[in-house]
Amino acid sequence: MNSGPTTPPFRTSVTTLPAFRPPPTEADAVPDGRGMRRLHLNEGPFAPSPRVVQAIQAAAGEVHRYPDPRCRKLAAAVAGRIGVAAERLVFGNGSEEILSLLLAMTLQPGAHAVLPVPSFPRYLAGARFAGADIAAVPVRADGANDVDAMLAAVTPETRIVVVATPNNPTGAMLPADTLVRLARDMPAQALLMIDEAYYEFARHAGGPDVLAILKDCRAPWAVLRTFSKAYGLAGLRVGYAICGDAAVAEAINRVRGVFNVDSLAQVAALAALDDPAHTQGLLDDGARQRQRLSDGFARAGCAPLPSVANFIAARMPVPSAEAVKAFAQRGIMIGAVGAAPFDNHVRVTIGTGEDTDAVLAALGEIVKR
Ligand SMILES: Cc1ncc(COP(=O)(O)O)c(C=O)c1O
Repeated sequence: MNSGPTTPPFRTSVTTLPAFRPPPTEADAVPDGRGMRRLHLNEGPFAPSPRVVQAIQAAAGEVHRYPDPRCRKLAAAVAGRIGVAAERLVFGNGSEEILSLLLAMTLQPGAHAVLPVPSFPRYLAGARFAGADIAAVPVRADGANDVDAMLAAVTPETRIVVVATPNNPTGAMLPADTLVRLARDMPAQALLMIDEAYYEFARHAGGPDVLAILKDCRAPWAVLRTFSKAYGLAGLRVGYAICGDAAVAEAINRVRGVFNVDSLAQVAALAALDDPAHTQGLLDDGARQRQRLSDGFARAGCAPLPSVANFIAARMPVPSAEAVKAFAQRGIMIGAVGAAPFDNHVRVTIGTGEDTDAVLAALGEIVKR
């Protein structure tokens, strides 16, 4: 008979991962959790399109049924818009699910991953969980991924190269000529995973067509996009991979949860695609507010990094964590970059015009102290 507590039989790569520290909620910031401006998670600032709300309401009476395991309607709609066969698309519970799977699918002890840092933390966590060797390649001074350094870090054991454009938390995107070089020089033994969570913002700002450039890539690849940002559906968790060929998509399908995208999320994403004017309004207003925020941080002497995403990063006169606290005391939740050489940088999500006013007013107080 067993008695007493036992140690769960988890892999060392699990027990040695850093503790789970989810992003703070309003309740972490102030005791009653009310009145805080949420500018720390790169969410959309507006409620979703009324068409999205209607679609969810109309589908609510059917939630006793499992959702479509292939997201067929949504896949057909996205496929038509981007000119890619639906069989090359895989939807997930946010793009985070798919990118985690791709890391787990390519990596294991002895395999090697090339990742940008600082970047979306899940890349590093996913590669560590897989037990892989990791080349964490610092982003450039402007915050864009250092593609040449990343390619130089590739070894014969490399199985995945992760590129984020625009990069989170810094905001810069890769220009077309760099992407062309990446597509040309990627080793065929590794998967190229390009995270375009902020794709719609980058295109709005004149960014390159990554899918067109990848047509010449001989390595297997997957591009990740999401409904969490420009479509304002972060709470529903829908993202997808556009795969270089159907074999990559089929492999993801083998390992994902069968019903990974819930039925309300599927109808909502479809309805969001059906209201391009709503998305365009969010992108137009976002670009205006991003410029205002950037100008305001620059005027305050807090050098903003160039951003085409729905957030900006800027250098504060104090370490990131202290600056985050100072904004929180003024009712504004923002993010810390806090990683060399961006130890003093904060990341502020683009909000409404009122949010911008509030951030700039708080910034004025904080830098004056
Ligand atoms: C670069 C990047 N990739 C992926 C994600 C995850 O997005 P999703 O909501 O689709 O899981 C985020 C979210 O902030 C992100 O910044």
